[in-house]
Amino acid sequence: MYSLIFRLLFVPMDAERAHHLSFTALRILDSVPLLGRLVRFVCARSAVHPVEVLGLPFPNRIGLAAGFDKNGVGVRALSALGFGHIEVGTITAHAQPGNDRPRLFRLRDNLALLNRMGFNNDGARQASFNIAEQRERIAALPQRLRPIVGVNIGKTKVVDASDAVSDYAASTRALAPLADYLVINVSSPNTPGLRDLQSVSSLEPIIAAVRETAAEVVEQPRSQLGHVPLLVKIAPDLADDDVLEICDLAMRAGIDGLITTNTTIDRSVLTGTEEHFATDQAGGISGRPLAERSLEVLRLVKGRVGDALTVISVGGVADAKDARARVAAGADLVQVYSEMIYSGPFFPGRVIRGLESSRLLTRGTGGA
Ligand SMILES: Cc1cc2nc3c(=O)[nH]c(=O)nc-3n(C[C@H](O)[C@H](O)[C@H](O)COP(=O)(O)O)c2cc1C
Repeated sequence: MYSLIFRLLFVPMDAERAHHLSFTALRILDSVPLLGRLVRFVCARSAVHPVEVLGLPFPNRIGLAAGFDKNGVGVRALSALGFGHIEVGTITAHAQPGNDRPRLFRLRDNLALLNRMGFNNDGARQASFNIAEQRERIAALPQRLRPIVGVNIGKTKVVDASDAVSDYAASTRALAPLADYLVINVSSPNTPGLRDLQSVSSLEPIIAAVRETAAEVVEQPRSQLGHVPLLVKIAPDLADDDVLEICDLAMRAGIDGLITTNTTIDRSVLTGTEEHFATDQAGGISGRPLAERSLEVLRLVKGRVGDALTVISVGGVADAKDARARVAAGADLVQVYSEMIYSGPFFPGRVIRGLESSRLLTRGTGGA
């Protein structure tokens, strides 16, 4: 049914317009009490498998990756699809329009997306109002269904790299009080110079400023850790040695976790004519072609950090088997995005139920 709707309605439509249409439809359905409950009943059936990570009670291990709900306007509606956490953002200190359209493309043969959105968002102040409103809405849900809200922050495009520290601190001041966990995004390929902030010398002062600011503005963190958990999201295109260096910095700086990975600028992960198309276009690739490197980076990170840091794996997860492989490789949580565009609103629930039943099976047969 969804693949028919996808082909007839969404494929002829610009990908970004299709995103807005489907997200708006979901939010409208969720706002009508009976319909909202019906969506939750159908999509999120048997999706509660509680797990404590980062000192927070996650309803399950599967979350929605950053970039879908950039302004934090649809947390409750998205949780009705079964997600145990929603990472909103990337949010920047100042509102910005992002890059010119078109800036989101479907690469259907590769089951991938190419995006160069460029952190289009309404800015930290507006996002703080939106998230506060969403928090009120999810507070009305039974505790076991309440999604965890991550807030992903990035650098405002017009702010010079030399002022990045105060820009991240400004976002933290506005958003940390509303975040269950915070993510420093230094890995999007669509803000010029952003990924250079992954160098240890640039990242260290950003981590310190975000941590100190969060401690100043949040008196009673929701996490049992006693502070707002702080994670850094990294790119899949880093050389292995640089990944290891970030792991060492993360442990030294006392951050709580890493998110691996953002989209890739590597076009060789694609095949056929879409590889040629993407070679001429700026932007990051997500979806199935990213899976291999994303898993590789997860293994690299886990090999270095062991259990010292929480690791959230994202990139090319297409079914419960993939999610299971990420958990088996040491991921505490798994996020999805692109596959939902191709597989539809039942996708998160399927992954959650499949992950849990495969875990039970493996446990039953004495496996890891
Ligand atoms: C349209 C689009 C927009 C995105 N925007 C963001 C963003 O604002 N911040 C961020 O950290 N990641 C962003 N991402 C990256 C995703 O969070 C995720 O890391 C990536 O898509 C890999 O996961 P997937 O293969 O399951 O899509 C975006 C991805 C897509 C497809």
